[in-house]
Amino acid sequence: MYRTHTNGELRIEHVNKTVTLAGWVQKTRNKGFMIWVDLRDRYGITQLIFDEERTSPEVMEIAASLGREYVIQVTGQVIERESKNPAMPTGDIEILVSDLQILNESLTPPFTIENETDGGEDLRMKYRYLDIRRKPVRQNLVFRHKVTMAVRNYLSEKDFVEVETPYLIKSTPEGARDFVVPSRMNEGQFYALPQSPQTFKQLLMVGGMDKYFQIVKCFRDEDLRADRQPEFTQIDCEMAFVEQEDILQMFEGLTRHLLEEINGVTVTDFPRMTYDEAMRRYGNDKPDIRFGMEFGELNEVAQHKDFNVFNSAELVVGIAVPNGNTYSRKEIDALIDWVKRPQIGAMGMVYVRCNEDGSYKSSVDKFYDQQDLARWAEKTNAKPGDLICVLSGDVHKTRTQLSALRMHLAQELGLRKADEFAPLWVTDFPLLEWDEETSRYHAMHHPFTSPKPGQLELLESNPGAVKANAYDLVLNGNEIGGGSIRIYDKKVQAKMFDYLGFSKEEAKAQFGFLMDAFEYGAPPHGGIAFGLDRLVAILGGQETIRDFIAFPKNNAGRDVMIDAPAKIDESQLKELHLKLNIENQ
Ligand code: AMO
Repeated sequence: MYRTHTNGELRIEHVNKTVTLAGWVQKTRNKGFMIWVDLRDRYGITQLIFDEERTSPEVMEIAASLGREYVIQVTGQVIERESKNPAMPTGDIEILVSDLQILNESLTPPFTIENETDGGEDLRMKYRYLDIRRKPVRQNLVFRHKVTMAVRNYLSEKDFVEVETPYLIKSTPEGARDFVVPSRMNEGQFYALPQSPQTFKQLLMVGGMDKYFQIVKCFRDEDLRADRQPEFTQIDCEMAFVEQEDILQMFEGLTRHLLEEINGVTVTDFPRMTYDEAMRRYGNDKPDIRFGMEFGELNEVAQHKDFNVFNSAELVVGIAVPNGNTYSRKEIDALIDWVKRPQIGAMGMVYVRCNEDGSYKSSVDKFYDQQDLARWAEKTNAKPGDLICVLSGDVHKTRTQLSALRMHLAQELGLRKADEFAPLWVTDFPLLEWDEETSRYHAMHHPFTSPKPGQLELLESNPGAVKANAYDLVLNGNEIGGGSIRIYDKKVQAKMFDYLGFSKEEAKAQFGFLMDAFEYGAPPHGGIAFGLDRLVAILGGQETIRDFIAFPKNNAGRDVMIDAPAKIDESQLKELHLKLNIENQ
């Protein structure tokens, strides 16, 4: 037996027991006549003591040779510590070692394996297996496991069945590029890795599975960010014989359950907001509603004077920054520079200081009097002591810019509290989205999403106005899930493909199997997929999903540990009937 106990387990009541422990050497302290070693495993750290008077010379000698991260096994007696460490769960005891075996040696690790490490991100990713030995990383993985278990238990309890769907498939249109896999047995043909199991879960509904879920890897070749990985995990769900309301209730239930089980938080409010309302009030389809700073539209109260910037704008909109009047001129200038950065792209920013005495001082005093500014304050809900920030221009761009400023300020002001949770359903998304690049409409969610009842006719006359039976679940300003009620009528689906610019032949080639299935009694159905990585990160009070993935990719989509992607052998290429056409190979 390698061990009788773990390194996180022993307490004062174990004193006098003889135990065997195994683990990694975290740290040694050698005073010559006495040596202390911190022994670590997944469960914690236990202090070992080797004492010239009580430990044999042979064991003393091996102890003196131990290096960091050596794997050892010890047997000894649990004794009470002279100087206790209340910060450690095992801090009341130590092990007086009588026997020591080195199970494996270790090179000196390239960074310290402590809670706070000296290793940079790249180094830690290259040696991820060492990084995983550190408590914060290990805790995140254990946390992820707990969330996953809670999801499985909840859904299974509600009669959902987990069904696996294939990874080697044909393209699924979720809006990103596909990762493709060449087929050796079918010359010149490729599989695509699923961007989601969308079509398969719909086929499972046709197959009568009724309530399906799957915790499943999805693959999307898109630009990466803190909340995006090229391979990520979805909690993918689908139900038959449901309307939107059934889905919202079921998955509101799951979200509440997770917050309670994992975070001990009972959510009182689970609001719903249409897409249009979210855009109007927050300039964003995934608003963080943990704090106010709602948008106040100012066209009516700002477009009657000689200020041409506002007069020529489609939208003039502001937010009140709580206690923002304490900002110095320099700090306000920094905010103006911030919104003018190319990533945000505003032309400038007008501001109004709301003084404690009820008066106002603005950067456009030349054009507006106190009465005007009082009306701006009313529209933005500004109080004495606040600062009103105003942007103007094209509706969509201005909202996006002000939303970015709102989030930036909230972060700076500490309003985005990691232990506060505010879920929100955003509903009634537009069915279609204009794509500048291709100059045509695309499905905003995916082409299987049904329009709101009675809106199909609008497709021809005013496509941009058609709303979909589509919804997103937002948690603390992050989109953690999205779904829709599906089209289940073959004729409607054909019309949608036609509208999205698929010829009959293309639609048949790409989705013929789904259209065929719809000929055999497809039930009404709908579903949702949560981004598990995002969900876990946010429940864990963070937003970088990489920290909750055991072996993530870096921002260039590389796994720096295994060094992938990589070239393949000429012979392998040949077998796959591929010829590279890259210069300077
Ligand atoms: P959607 O494309 O909205 O819907 O994806 C669902 C959720 O998956 C997460 N997500 C990601 N997480 C990490 N990295 C990525 N690259 C990434 N892309 C998406 C998000 C998102 O809300 N088939 C539909 C679902 C349905 O209609 O039922 C779908 O995939 O949290």
